[in-house]
Amino acid sequence: GPGAARRAFFAPGRVNLLGGHLDYNGGPVLPTAIDRGTFIAVAPRSDGRVRLASTFSEAVYDRPLRELPSERTGAWYDYPLGVVAALRRGEPERSKPLDSRFMDLGFDVLFGGNLPVGAGLSSSASICVGTAYALDASFELGLDALQRVGAALHAEREFVGVHCGIMDPYAVGFARPRQVLWLDCKDESFEHLPLDFASVSIGVIDTGVQRALARGEFNRRVAECAAAFEALRPHVPGATVLRDIPLEVLEAHESELDPTIARRARHVIEEVARTFAARAALEKGDIETFGRSMAETHASLRDLYECSSEELDVIVDAALAVDGVHGARLTGAGFGGCVVAFASAGVERDVERVVGDAYENRYGRRPPVAFFQGDEGPREIT
Ligand code: GLA
Repeated sequence: GPGAARRAFFAPGRVNLLGGHLDYNGGPVLPTAIDRGTFIAVAPRSDGRVRLASTFSEAVYDRPLRELPSERTGAWYDYPLGVVAALRRGEPERSKPLDSRFMDLGFDVLFGGNLPVGAGLSSSASICVGTAYALDASFELGLDALQRVGAALHAEREFVGVHCGIMDPYAVGFARPRQVLWLDCKDESFEHLPLDFASVSIGVIDTGVQRALARGEFNRRVAECAAAFEALRPHVPGATVLRDIPLEVLEAHESELDPTIARRARHVIEEVARTFAARAALEKGDIETFGRSMAETHASLRDLYECSSEELDVIVDAALAVDGVHGARLTGAGFGGCVVAFASAGVERDVERVVGDAYENRYGRRPPVAFFQGDEGPREIT
């Protein structure tokens, strides 16, 4: 629309290198942002309406800001709408509710982007954290980065209804160039670790296939881990999350657990140790060991957590056979979506060729392959 007050913003997506399905179990995770994400253009109005439109869907939300729905509508705009609803209610705590000036004005927001949606690259956290950032900047709401992340989390959990952990909005909201994020999901502390992007390359290969029931399967995994924790916590005084359960305790009581629950718990407990070991390798510059941990993570997600797919496994196996590829695993929740490959710089064309051939032989088409250099958190663009 017309008007000089338009401003534009960008928020990245992310891949998670280690710590698969650990965030909602209180474990450590190691994500990094990628330089693809969500573009957000904001223009204030003067009639108190909110209009949300996007370049990838016909559906437009257009209603008075004072008449926000209280739960999800089923449309793509549930994500930004959830953020607006969170900010309006003063969620997360400590952030002040949107003032009446904001409510009386209203705004138009146009969303676009270059992240595949629902492919495990955190398109949802990108749009949610980006929306919080764009509204904060446009209306001088005075939020800090943690409050913007909190609003994004509130939108996904309370409004959209996915029981997700904290990794994705933190990975998007706190990303720094040439660094990976070490986030301890038990106490929510985090630090940035350097990654030499001149010598390594992060590849993303998209299966283009997403299991229809992925959201339900994700929530089921969350519930299975909760059940594992409830069964094991009496044996570990002071334990507050599944991450606190030692492997010996699981092994002593494994036969008492439902076999599916036991497999989920084993993945989580071993993945915690693997993620700490991978961090130590990264800090020593040992990218081979770091990559090997990623490959082990994939095997565990495939066999114990059962969240891989045949297409993901074909890509991971093909990628790992390329000289110079140190690791590969599904990224995000799994059940389809993308593989992230961790490779030495210079082997990008080999990955594209070998993985493309393997996938084409099996499925008759070549998957999109892209390489990334990391990125920083949400910002205004011109
Ligand atoms: C999804 C969720 C994250 C995390 C990953 C699995 O991306 O949104 O919170 O649980 O799956 O590691």
